[in-house]
Amino acid sequence: MKIFSGSSNKPLAEKIALALNLRLSTVDIHIFPDKERRIRILEKVVNEDTVVVQSTSTPADQNYMELFFIIDALKRSGAKSVTAVVPYLGYQRQDHVFRDGEAVSIDVIIKNIESLGVDRIIVFDVHSIKTPELFKIPVFHLSALSVFGDFIKKYYSDSVLVSPDAGGVRRVKILSDMINMPFAVITKDRDLETGEVTAEKIEGLPKNKKVKRAIIVDDMISSGKTIIVAAEMLRKNGVDEVFVFVTHAIFSESAPKLLQKSVVEKVIVTDAVYIPKEKYFPKLKVLSIAKTIADQIKKF
Ligand code: R5P
Repeated sequence: MKIFSGSSNKPLAEKIALALNLRLSTVDIHIFPDKERRIRILEKVVNEDTVVVQSTSTPADQNYMELFFIIDALKRSGAKSVTAVVPYLGYQRQDHVFRDGEAVSIDVIIKNIESLGVDRIIVFDVHSIKTPELFKIPVFHLSALSVFGDFIKKYYSDSVLVSPDAGGVRRVKILSDMINMPFAVITKDRDLETGEVTAEKIEGLPKNKKVKRAIIVDDMISSGKTIIVAAEMLRKNGVDEVFVFVTHAIFSESAPKLLQKSVVEKVIVTDAVYIPKEKYFPKLKVLSIAKTIADQIKKF
């Protein structure tokens, strides 16, 4: 087996390769002055099973093009199989038509990936449970919940889990069953024009017992608004400390600054998305999902 990486998250690809007792194989990613890319596989892959790791986080368009070209280069070079590992699947939030006239971006992305002849894809904590069903090729949908569950049991055992919106209830229920911890749900509203988030109500907080610590669990942080609004609501409802566990640290615009300034104690994320140094902040901690991905690859 040979494992390749695009340029979006090489540290994660290196960790996956290490967990598989492999080294990263070489691919030349040449960037032209106009930022177009030329991809060239520099190793023999004839009749080899190959893996390509690429998170399609910001800049999603560029990272997708790199992924497409690497897959194409592997196929043209005679690879026996290509497994795409896309720990963060960009454009996944537009998974249906919310308002008349909209495109369904994830459907377009899936059609493109499949048209290149990928054999299977590994994705991580997708936003909608329906997304894997949109693929025709085999999809392996992995989750950070077991990594989070182990960490929470070890360090934050006496807590209440919280979903910051109705869409995250399924995720929080799974974690609640996994580690036997109660959960509450916040109802949020987001203005589709302005992006403003408001928390409307919270259900499920124990009534006769003080909640010292709440743990918000979500799939991604982009602007940070969902988490900040949810944490403020929890504090207003008498919770002393709010911790956050989120798989995908998208951290758009000033999210790191806002989270650092917020009432949140700690933001625990994974390395599904590469976090550049300038986006690190003191409250941030990163857990790795490399072993979870490597364990899945070993089964193929
Ligand atoms: C929304 O349904 C998602 O699960 C996340 O809560 C959301 O995408 C986070 O975005 P932001 O950080 O911009 O509020």
